[in-house]
Amino acid sequence: MTKLKEIYKCEICGNIVEVLHTGQGELVCCGQPMVLSQEKSLDVGNEKHVPVLEKKEGKIIVKVGQEPHPMQEEHFIEWIEIVYKGGKSCRVFLKPHEKPQAEFVNNNEITKIREYCNVHGLWVNN
Ligand SMILES: [Fe+2]
Repeated sequence: MTKLKEIYKCEICGNIVEVLHTGQGELVCCGQPMVLSQEKSLDVGNEKHVPVLEKKEGKIIVKVGQEPHPMQEEHFIEWIEIVYKGGKSCRVFLKPHEKPQAEFVNNNEITKIREYCNVHGLWVNN
């Protein structure tokens, strides 16, 4: 059974979907099961993916990596999402050559921040 907000990817065509309503069935694309993206929170190696938060004046700026993550055509941060208490969420989609960061409202009710790297998958703040 799927869980709310899980992210699944098709390893053949690259489709990525998010679960907005849970169900019993298996998610299938291109004739095979889609793969669940596990939320990772521990950086290893040179590239940093764990979201870094900077709070100022009612806003929260989320940056990907202390050292900015690459934003090249073949390797970039696709989106950054903030999840607030009560289920409200906001996602900013990014493009190659933009900064790997996004700005959100800081209402002090943040439960989670996630980001998705097209090469290294799904990451979450601790
Ligand atoms: Fe990456």
